[in-house]
Amino acid sequence: MRKIVVEGGLPLRGQIEVSGAKNAVLPLMAATLLADGVSVIEDSPWLADVETMSAVLSSLGLICDYICGSLHINNAGRMHTEPPDELVQRMRASFLVMGPLLARCGRVRMSLPGGCAIGARPIDLHLKGLEALGAEISIDGNGYIEATASRLRGCQIYLDFPSVGATENLMMAAALAEGSTVIGNAAEEPEIVDLSNMLSAMGAKIKGAGTNIIRIKGVKELKPARHTVIPDRIEAGSFMVIAAATGGELIITNVITEHIKSVTAKLREAGVKVEEGYDGVHVIGGPRPVPVDVTTLPYPGFPTDMQAQFMALLTLAGGTSVITETVFENRFRHAEELKKMSADIKTNGHSAVINGVKRLRGAVVEATDLRAGAAMIVAALAAEGITGIGNIQHIERGYENICGKLTAVGAKIKVVEEK
Ligand code: UD1
Repeated sequence: MRKIVVEGGLPLRGQIEVSGAKNAVLPLMAATLLADGVSVIEDSPWLADVETMSAVLSSLGLICDYICGSLHINNAGRMHTEPPDELVQRMRASFLVMGPLLARCGRVRMSLPGGCAIGARPIDLHLKGLEALGAEISIDGNGYIEATASRLRGCQIYLDFPSVGATENLMMAAALAEGSTVIGNAAEEPEIVDLSNMLSAMGAKIKGAGTNIIRIKGVKELKPARHTVIPDRIEAGSFMVIAAATGGELIITNVITEHIKSVTAKLREAGVKVEEGYDGVHVIGGPRPVPVDVTTLPYPGFPTDMQAQFMALLTLAGGTSVITETVFENRFRHAEELKKMSADIKTNGHSAVINGVKRLRGAVVEATDLRAGAAMIVAALAAEGITGIGNIQHIERGYENICGKLTAVGAKIKVVEEK
């Protein structure tokens, strides 16, 4: 069994660089199904989720090579349409191949997707949108989804919730549909804009990405493209919280500061000094954060993917904070783990009340999902004593070389193999 072991209590200082965004690179990889030839995605992080998506694409007949930080994906045009269950169930984002495969091949058969255990996470919005585009969809008793369409047709889609994945899947499908599609109540996340930029470079006709109405004029064919992935705003936010929680000072580079406005605002409200530069942020933590209330929302609201790390920070605040989670239904499993480190947290439905304590103490804890794992690292770095974090495969899904990066700014953190 592998664990991350942290000796806490040290203020972290120095410069730390953010990698390319996990949540951007996965849909970009799926988009390479839309065109024959070699697409190149530059500044791609090398993460477990990227490996899984590479395996999904390979299983469909594409060839993926990771060369010096760039993904080279060769689509020779002969695609299989049934990704293996084992891969699809390993990662929810593997469902992003559905839209492109349907648009290119007219048929897909795959099992229901997996991913972090943070709630029901249905895919009804993806399926409703694809049906509106003309797909015939059936789900059998064993959880297999089969979708067919001789040619997708442009249409008006209104999403009941601005789902990131559904917006991405539908943008990719609509890019090759006949006629125009309008996606209303679309997600506005920066990763949607990044996907739109790559699709446009491939020859797609898309307007409005980054707003809640996206218009797509279908084209007959797309060509491969070279594209640089945006920096990971959640990794950036995690490092900002680490600087604050350890009372340290970090210069975090490769950050698009506009993408993390809500996190910056909340940190400032909590008394943390954040200076924005051209390509990064300088974060100076104080002795103890001021308590703040946080509500997660779709972008540009406070990201649900930063909620767990913020909870870890607020366990040390000088008073009571309330966190309200509105995006996912079951995303407080980290609270139980933080309590093992002496945090005082009460959860009730979508809310968590956090009474700040003077200090956290090292303990044996679990990464219950990806961002919960990041929260354990925040807490462990700030705590007195030694913390052992189990289930680190969750953390490795989304943080590239996390121990190496944090060691370089003064953390005592390492991966340990245990029998
Ligand atoms: C993406 C991110 C994830 C982030 C989330 C919300 C990737 C690879 N992952 O996930 O890190 O936490 O956005 O910012 O980009 N929903 C439905 N029906 C659907 C689809 C979604 O009810 O068909 C619900 C979900 O259960 C959830 C909410 O909508 O409660 C948000 O999900 P969504 O935006 O789709 O998240 P993902 O794309 O899965």
